[in-house]
Amino acid sequence: MAGLDGRVAVVTGAGQGLGAAEALALAGSGARLVLNDLPGPALDEVAERIRAAGGEAVTCAGDVAEWSTGEALVRRAVDAYGNLDVVVNNAGVLRDRMIFSMSEHEWDTVIRVHLRGHFVTTRFATAFWREQSKIKNRPVYARIVNTSSEAFLLGSAGQPNYAAAKGGIVALTLATARGCERYGVRANAICPRARTAMTGGLMGPAPAGPDPMAPERVGPLVAWLAGPSAACITGEVFVVHGDVVAVLGPPTVRHAFHARGDQWTADELDATLGTVFTQDPPLPGFVCEETLPLAGSTFGEERQ
Ligand SMILES: NC(=O)c1ccc[n+]([C@@H]2O[C@H](COP(=O)([O-])OP(=O)(O)OC[C@H]3O[C@@H](n4cnc5c(N)ncnc54)[C@H](O)[C@@H]3O)[C@@H](O)[C@H]2O)c1
Repeated sequence: MAGLDGRVAVVTGAGQGLGAAEALALAGSGARLVLNDLPGPALDEVAERIRAAGGEAVTCAGDVAEWSTGEALVRRAVDAYGNLDVVVNNAGVLRDRMIFSMSEHEWDTVIRVHLRGHFVTTRFATAFWREQSKIKNRPVYARIVNTSSEAFLLGSAGQPNYAAAKGGIVALTLATARGCERYGVRANAICPRARTAMTGGLMGPAPAGPDPMAPERVGPLVAWLAGPSAACITGEVFVVHGDVVAVLGPPTVRHAFHARGDQWTADELDATLGTVFTQDPPLPGFVCEETLPLAGSTFGEERQ
């Protein structure tokens, strides 16, 4: 029996790329789909592919950052299938620019689609699950898979809007996991890598034969996190691409410094911190580069 038999899953940005691959993976595991993307023929084509393969899919087009779209997605799931079990937040856009050149519109667009887009769907889905949990007097089946990016770990210099939105999505995932655990909600985030319209310019064309960067390589983890096996997984962040699934650890306290007296003075800070941070020019200290070697196998380089 497929892990998601009969479960109802919403996928945003499902018209192409990772969202389409994730929707197909969910359908392949037995889920019934509500597909969202901006209005256009791409969404219907993905729905048709799912139905042609024997699955069930309806569409609910709309801008994912609109309050009304969040509401409509839950309503569409309930109207079409009588329930909602899974939300995969995936829709996204890029407006890359260095911070000093970025326009107000470029900033707002990216924060709006990614961060507000994740919030709006999560807001309505969790309200639905909380209500169901109260009616049934028990936790319900509820899964959220959010889409972050390694850009937030690295502090991607040409993507301050995107890195900030993706960091915000991790924080939103954790707050959702904590706030909704008692209703049965499991909320996790992925940092995927794949050759799509968003990254094709950067990654270039696919090689002949199987593409290690194919978005289809991300689908199985998303379907698994949406499935029953992930009942004990919440508030986690996974890096996923090629043949790699890695789970990130939380930030750690690197050093704790204590003042000699009740509180720090500038002189004492100078004498203590000033001797620890000596690299000039300094490198950003909070950056995480540990995920980069994981991409060795995906990019066809030697595995490190
Ligand atoms: N491709 C990668 O390597 C990579 C890496 C890290 C994170 N991501 C994230 O994965 C997600 C999917 O990216 P992708 O590579 O498949 O990109 P993509 O451009 O191929 O697909 C994004 C989809 O989102 C849709 N979309 C955009 N704005 C929308 C809106 N307001 N409402 C509804 N749908 C909207 C687009 O129409 C498109 O179908 C994004 O959140 C992206 O940031 C991708």
